[in-house]
Amino acid sequence: MKLEGAVSLVTGGSKGLGLAIAHNLQAQGGRVVIADIDTAALNALPDIFDRRILDVTRPDDAKSAAQSLVEAYGRIDVLVNNAGVIYSEPMVNLMNPVGMMHGYDRFRQNLLVNLDSVFIMTSAVVEQMVLRRTKGVVINISSISARGNEGQTAYSAAKAGVNAMTVTWAKELGRFGIRCNAVAPGFVDTSSTRTALNEAIIKHIEAETPLRRLGRAEEIAQAVAAAISNDFLNGAILDVNGGVTI
Ligand SMILES: NC(=O)c1ccc[n+]([C@@H]2O[C@H](COP(=O)([O-])OP(=O)(O)OC[C@H]3O[C@@H](n4cnc5c(N)ncnc54)[C@H](O)[C@@H]3O)[C@@H](O)[C@H]2O)c1
Repeated sequence: MKLEGAVSLVTGGSKGLGLAIAHNLQAQGGRVVIADIDTAALNALPDIFDRRILDVTRPDDAKSAAQSLVEAYGRIDVLVNNAGVIYSEPMVNLMNPVGMMHGYDRFRQNLLVNLDSVFIMTSAVVEQMVLRRTKGVVINISSISARGNEGQTAYSAAKAGVNAMTVTWAKELGRFGIRCNAVAPGFVDTSSTRTALNEAIIKHIEAETPLRRLGRAEEIAQAVAAAISNDFLNGAILDVNGGVTI
């Protein structure tokens, strides 16, 4: 797909990786819509972006947003399912005797925001792609944690589910000319990473990574753009992690 003129919807794009992805697509001549729940961050964005307040966990709102974008632009070419929340909680926490085990409510909540949301948004947008015969692309932002990451039961399960849906949709939607791929970042230098991991863990990750550093948001954005533009890439889970898993 040519990025120039492509209409892209980037969820969770008001900051972090999503904002880097949005800037990259916009710089290549795309028309970019950022949907996010964070109104203040949305309002702080430059006018080059079409900004929409949206909670990606709400199916009716997702459907209305997709319809409204098609009315505004005639079609949606690209959906980037980036919105998500990094969440860490061990299965057993001996330091917390009153709630030693991972809370089920927190497990469910994390799956809602990291897994259900990807289903909800893809359903809403792909419906419009199929109805308008748009040969579109869905990019899911997965994570290295999909392989199973200590201390991240819910987040790892959600991202593994995102990978499985990516492959399933690549198989199912190919007949409509719609491609689906995932980009699975490793540890990227973002404020969310700095909040989730302390300095000692970051130093350890850097030492374990062949390139000896964290990734940059722009490097994830470059992988997303490549996955959108390559018309034969379908069902791929692109690891962008500096080689930490090899
Ligand atoms: N930062 C990393 O190192 C890293 C690594 C691997 C994967 N990821 C994934 O990349 C994506 C972006 O992460 P980030 O680090 O930029 O995080 P971030 O917290 O900086 O950005 C996430 C964005 O999603 C939005 N969001 C959260 N819940 C939402 C909802 N219900 N509806 C709409 N928007 C919502 C937030 O407001 C925020 O703008 C996530 O899917 C994350 O799991 C990040």
